[in-house]
Amino acid sequence: MAIRPIVTFPNPVLKTRCEPVTSFDEALTTLLDDMRDTMNEAEGLGLAANQVGVSLRIFTMGLPTGEDEDAPVEHFEIINPEIVTKKGEIRFEEGCLSFPGIAESVTRAGQVELRYYDRSGAEIVRVFDGVAAVCVQHEFDHLEGVTFLDRLSPLKRRLAMRAYKKAMAQARDDAEDEGRSAVRPWR
Ligand code: NI
Repeated sequence: MAIRPIVTFPNPVLKTRCEPVTSFDEALTTLLDDMRDTMNEAEGLGLAANQVGVSLRIFTMGLPTGEDEDAPVEHFEIINPEIVTKKGEIRFEEGCLSFPGIAESVTRAGQVELRYYDRSGAEIVRVFDGVAAVCVQHEFDHLEGVTFLDRLSPLKRRLAMRAYKKAMAQARDDAEDEGRSAVRPWR
């Protein structure tokens, strides 16, 4: 198990449609274990394989089973997913590990029925509601090469992109400042 580096926008792998998984082998097991560790370390609700640079139709989710902060988290490994049905509507403020520093409200279906495979190759059909449904749709989009900013109006997307660039520039400045103080600790 290992933590893999998370790819940030505008890396082209995030805008590329991912390929289906065809062999349920040891490499897949390792990838799933690494994705779980990477997602937990970054404190994300979900992580798609292309966010660690692997263009395969896989995502993981760690979803709280209750409202309480200490509610147990249920872990999901979703391979070759297919959205069977969508119902209702929910508006939720989303973030993305590939867009550090910004959050935007997105409207999505409030319930989705998902068909997918687990790591052993067994087929599973499950219904997700509310925040879980939001997470499923956000991660499913990643596999299509679609980011949550693509779900915004053109104006909101421009504003969000500006905020993202600013956040990234700030993060770079902070890193440089830290680098300087590490070299010259008296400053
Ligand atoms: Ni994301």
